[in-house]
Amino acid sequence: MAGYLRTEKRRNAKIWLTVLPSGRTVETSSGATLLEAIAVAGEAIAHRCGGRARCGECHVLVLRGWRGLSKPRQAERDRLARLRGAESLSRLACQAALGAHHKVIIKLYPIDQRI
Ligand code: FES
Repeated sequence: MAGYLRTEKRRNAKIWLTVLPSGRTVETSSGATLLEAIAVAGEAIAHRCGGRARCGECHVLVLRGWRGLSKPRQAERDRLARLRGAESLSRLACQAALGAHHKVIIKLYPIDQRI
């Protein structure tokens, strides 16, 4: 029972996402992707492939809360490996789901440097 309650609590956990450079912060829930949360924040982010880890336009840098995100799958790792400017903090916003961390800070990759 305690394990079930812990899982439910984590599933419904409120998470604060701050999007740089604007500094806009929104409250979201675990399970949402960064792309969904960024849209809720009212930030513009390209996502031409519709969240299939193909275009790389949703490239973001995760400055805080990295461990609370879902682990990168092979398709994301492959895309990031071919993405100009990708680094150790890089994630594809369409692939990274929010999890356990209550405070996540990301930086949108400059539009002119994407892909
Ligand atoms: S939307 Fe295309 S890689 Fe994320």
